[in-house]
Amino acid sequence: MHKITLIPGDGIGPEVSNAMKMVLEASGVEIEWEEVQAGEAQIEKYGTPLPDHVIEAIKRNKIAIKGPITTPVGKGFKSVNVTLRQNLDLYVNLRPVKSFKGIESRYSDIDLVIVRENTEDLYAGIEHKIGNYGAESIKLITKPASQRIVEFAFKYAKNNKRSTVTAVHKANIMKLSDGLFLNTAREVAEHNTEINFNDLIVDAAAMNLVINPQKYDVMVMPNLYGDILSDLCAGLVGGLGIIPGANIGKDYAVFEAVHGSAPDIAGQNKANPTALIQSAIMMLRHIGEYEHADKIEAALSKVFLEGKVLTGDLGGSATTTEFAEAICKKL
Ligand code: NAI
Repeated sequence: MHKITLIPGDGIGPEVSNAMKMVLEASGVEIEWEEVQAGEAQIEKYGTPLPDHVIEAIKRNKIAIKGPITTPVGKGFKSVNVTLRQNLDLYVNLRPVKSFKGIESRYSDIDLVIVRENTEDLYAGIEHKIGNYGAESIKLITKPASQRIVEFAFKYAKNNKRSTVTAVHKANIMKLSDGLFLNTAREVAEHNTEINFNDLIVDAAAMNLVINPQKYDVMVMPNLYGDILSDLCAGLVGGLGIIPGANIGKDYAVFEAVHGSAPDIAGQNKANPTALIQSAIMMLRHIGEYEHADKIEAALSKVFLEGKVLTGDLGGSATTTEFAEAICKKL
């Protein structure tokens, strides 16, 4: 029996979390959920959107899965997601992007992985006002953080029988910060010669990913580029409702979908739960439950291939619950 922390989140979070739980239960994997709440609704009771007991629950169980949490734009509290990543030192954000047969999108045969640095860059939260005139955000890049993320990318490439790591940067303009990231990546590559290595400037990466995404394998990059390019890549294979993610550190791992809380469709039983279900598949592999993970992945693929039960974002009319039930039936 695995004990796992579940943070359902807000917006569509509770709906997709319920669907994910249904599917895992139908697979037969033995999980005891410790459910805790985070987000704006907690502020009144605890004075913070991320109460200490939530962090403690993750530390206790070591593994968590979470739904999206709304972050106020341009004001209000600091993103719960960013705080979690920093507090638990979840330095890797891993986003595999793979085409599913049966999902209509412009491309097929995409199979790439974005490895995004998760703790620094413009997300370090170092910002200040310059009087009434402006504001400044510091882009922090350090050698240790660059080194461990690139090392993770090479280790992932080796463990998953991948052939190439591409470092994405803008070192032609930000010669010191991105220059440090790129030089560190080159040093790590010198110790991992069994995996091919190349690098790409971020704007060229954006264009090439749209023109010829099939040619990319493992891509490693600082935080901001990873945030943007992973959403771009989600769009290549059917949208945000599909793509899973994992935040991984030395001691803890938090699995979550790439999408946000989708306030426009929240509470309507319309959201596509695939991204969170795929995140759960990654989680099961992380805890060694390969058989259950493979079983759920096969059931999900069958539902897509048949194309009869699809949510609205994929051109269907099924509800979140109906889609989850279709997967459970296959299981
Ligand atoms: P979003 O991902 O919530 O929505 C963008 C568009 O994609 C919307 O039209 C939405 O309906 C659609 N969409 C997203 N997920 C879907 C799903 N599973 N099924 C079907 N359609 C889906 O992004 P947005 O609107 O920029 O952000 C909303 C809120 O979510 C913000 O407060 C943002 O800060 C937060 N957010 C939280 C994240 C997290 O907790 N990990 C990640 C990204 C955003």
